[in-house]
Amino acid sequence: MSDSPERRVRLAVDGQGLDAPAGKNLLGFLNALGKEIPHFCWHPGLSVVASCRQCQVEVQGPGPAPRRLAVACRTETAEGLQVWTGTDAVRKARRGVLEFLLANHPLDCPICDKAGECPLQDFTFEQGQSASRSDLEKRTFRKRVDLGPVITLDEERCVLCSRCVRFFPEVTGETQLGIFGRGAHSMVGTPGDRPLEGRYQGNLADICPVGALTLKKFAHAARIWNLRSTPSVCPLCSRGCSTTVDVHRGAVVRIRPRPNPAVNWHWMCDEGRLRFDDLNAAERL
Ligand code: FES
Repeated sequence: MSDSPERRVRLAVDGQGLDAPAGKNLLGFLNALGKEIPHFCWHPGLSVVASCRQCQVEVQGPGPAPRRLAVACRTETAEGLQVWTGTDAVRKARRGVLEFLLANHPLDCPICDKAGECPLQDFTFEQGQSASRSDLEKRTFRKRVDLGPVITLDEERCVLCSRCVRFFPEVTGETQLGIFGRGAHSMVGTPGDRPLEGRYQGNLADICPVGALTLKKFAHAARIWNLRSTPSVCPLCSRGCSTTVDVHRGAVVRIRPRPNPAVNWHWMCDEGRLRFDDLNAAERL
């Protein structure tokens, strides 16, 4: 194995000179700096597709490359790169993308389990983007599509980021979800609404950024802002996945994976996620 030291580069973010590892994903790098770049399709545990176009920043370089808008998730840290994250051009570009995403998104936030931890809700609030310029009717799709014992799909909420589609081949090794239909009729799903299979379905609810794929077990169990969250470790097998346990009114209502590259990366199995009823049993000490 090579012990060659990591190559470092000098770049500038919002006018501040910084030292960075070469060839790092710019979006991940900016997030680690606390810059909070809005994004939907990018996930640190999945491949990059750069399809949602929400993570735009202005860049100049490397070398003689001119100043331009670029998606941060498809840009790498490089020597001499200059990055601006909050210019008027950046704000206008992101606002345009958001307007398209909201054109057909239902006003489900009051009844959506993702409310409170939904980036679409957060970015919309941050941008103050509550009015639409469109007077067309919103598209309607199916609500509460049954995708097996763990997950429910709400087609109207989907922003087609494809995180869930990539999850299966890239993490579990088998394709289950796809995007069907064309243009405005494109929709995520399984062939013929076939139920999802396997032991890792619950991860879809974590990676879906907008509440299109939600956990049946957590359906309307609590509002996110009323939860008390505690870092923990799953005791159900010797892997010991890092978890976060969410408690509402003294009862465990949800267990989620806690990112830990040394053990479980961003994922956990459905057994560890869903088998917590015994923790809430009345006869338990
Ligand atoms: Fe970069 Fe979607 S997060 S294009």
